[in-house]
Amino acid sequence: MLLLCLSLFQSLASAIWPIPTHYKHGDTVLCISKHFRFDWASKSDHFDDDGFYRYSWSEAYFQPQENESNHHKPPTREHIVRYAAYSAHDTIFNKNFVPWKFHPRSWTEPDLFNIPCISRVQLHLLQEDPEDVARPLSGSIDESYSLSLTEEGEATISANSSIGVVRGLATFTQLFSKHTLGAAYTRLAPVYIYDAPKFPHRGLNLDVSRHFFPVSDIMRTIDALAYAKMNRLHLHITDSQSWPLEIPSLAKLAEKGAFRPNLVYTVKDFEELQHHAAIQGVQLITEIDMPGHTSSIYHSYPDLVAAFDIQPDHYTYAAEPPSGTLKLNSTAVYEFLETLFDDLLPRITPYASYFHTGGDEVNKNAYLLDDTVRSKDFAVLQPLMQTFIDRNHEQLRKKGLTPVVWEEMLLEWDLKLGEDVVVQSWRSDEAVEKIVEKGHKVLVGNYKFWYLDCGKGQWLNLDSNDPGQYQDYCAPYHNWRAIYSHNPLTNIPTSKQHLVLGGEVHLWAEQTDPSNLDQMVWPRAAAAAEVLWSGAMDAEGNSRSQKEAAQRLSEMRERLVRMGVGAEPVQMPYCTMEGGCGA
Ligand SMILES: *[C@@H]1O[C@H](CO)[C@@H](O)[C@H](O)[C@H]1NC(C)=O
Ligand SMILES: *[C@@H]1O[C@H](CO)[C@@H](O)[C@H](O)[C@H]1NC(C)=O
Ligand SMILES: *[C@@H]1O[C@H](CO)[C@@H](O)[C@H](O)[C@H]1NC(C)=O
Repeated sequence: MLLLCLSLFQSLASAIWPIPTHYKHGDTVLCISKHFRFDWASKSDHFDDDGFYRYSWSEAYFQPQENESNHHKPPTREHIVRYAAYSAHDTIFNKNFVPWKFHPRSWTEPDLFNIPCISRVQLHLLQEDPEDVARPLSGSIDESYSLSLTEEGEATISANSSIGVVRGLATFTQLFSKHTLGAAYTRLAPVYIYDAPKFPHRGLNLDVSRHFFPVSDIMRTIDALAYAKMNRLHLHITDSQSWPLEIPSLAKLAEKGAFRPNLVYTVKDFEELQHHAAIQGVQLITEIDMPGHTSSIYHSYPDLVAAFDIQPDHYTYAAEPPSGTLKLNSTAVYEFLETLFDDLLPRITPYASYFHTGGDEVNKNAYLLDDTVRSKDFAVLQPLMQTFIDRNHEQLRKKGLTPVVWEEMLLEWDLKLGEDVVVQSWRSDEAVEKIVEKGHKVLVGNYKFWYLDCGKGQWLNLDSNDPGQYQDYCAPYHNWRAIYSHNPLTNIPTSKQHLVLGGEVHLWAEQTDPSNLDQMVWPRAAAAAEVLWSGAMDAEGNSRSQKEAAQRLSEMRERLVRMGVGAEPVQMPYCTMEGGCGA
């Protein structure tokens, strides 16, 4: 038996993305039976002689027991583990690939005759799930797992929560390749893994207002996020360009504010998205950005919005057209928000602990045109903004939700935010330092590294012939290496690092629609997934090797493509076949 530590074994792909905390494997080939069975044991109130409650799963349980779209309750431990087991089986046998790109031209596939086959996978749930398993606060779920696969084909995954089992099963599928003859096999036995995430918040922020994305596109994105062990999908669901979210008690909002009446997430769509995310250990975090970025409300409630669509100098009133902001000192706006939140929040609380109230890029000039204020004086506006945020956050807290805000609310508006509030940073690493200095929990996502939309050039039509004007504000395009190089803990003192909950990569959708969504997100979001799950540094405290990562990310990309996600290639096959393309 040959047992190799990963660090000694960098030239061949070692299969797993993101890289586990502890990972040892050998080079024995094992097949896996298409009829392999899950045995499931969990500690519970009903103890067997050895302290475990047991029952076996037969093949019948590979299908989710209930039609997922038919139940409207948050998933339980049983739903979560069954769905993960079903997905793992489906991935290994139906979404796998022949790994010729990861071997030299002379490679021949292993002979699978007369070798041991895996016939069952034991799943051990070592502890009860916390009550909020379907809507965890950062840190409340233990996502760690251990995985062992012996040379004889005994496979065991142990975890302290059902979500840990989900993460362990994602890893398990990545040990297997497809054989040209149809079977699936691993060439890595024996395997010993202990794995746990570095950060509890690992997400993608997807803007579904600048372009509309059908539910199926978001579902596929959720599947890919879970497969990369990301656990948050932040939906920037409304903005100035469109309001695609159905709010039954304010029906005109979507009827008039969406691009077309059918380009709307209905109450049912929204529930299904949240459920599909939660069952895979992904929390869907909804953002209604305000008070700026709200001019789509004007189409249904014109009296609530100031400085609507000022032309031609929209720059004076908003970061991008159309300008418009919720009035800042208006009883009517407060009544509207009360109704909006009373409708929306109860549909969110079964699936999420967080709600994002936005707060980026609020333009002070716009309040010169706000008849409830008529001022751009910070001393006048700041207390009104404080009242606005306090009102919103109080209503969230009453519903059991924790507020998230963009960094400007703290750093530019100098608001007093509750200790519970999570501040999402986007403008710089220095901003992250300031936020933790003020004692707040923070999400990183420096636009110079983690904005996925950058580098496509200007989308506004300009009169200028100056080539420099054609650049977008955050050019160039950040390829996966730039994303991978960003350390969320840059310059954060050890004593404050616990405040960095993790981060998100961001896709603002001015130039992205369903036709290029997958290419814009994948595999680059997976690069951030590894930074957030495994940390930016390796076990020796060095920045992770791009050369080693490129092989594994290339393999992850093949798996995403087989899942139906149009991820872009990482490298030429020449590089992955011949052991890297180092500079
Ligand atoms: C699940 O149920 C919905 C609604 O009843 C139906 O449209 C869908 O086809 C069903 N899906 C499966 C996989 O049976
Ligand atoms: C489970 O929890 C125990 C202690 O409560 C811890 O030692 C272990 O690392 C956790 N994870 C796994 C996979 O066992
Ligand atoms: C806010 O509105 C109230 C009530 O209309 C008014 O009395 C007050 O002066 C306004 N505050 C500012 C700063 O304009």
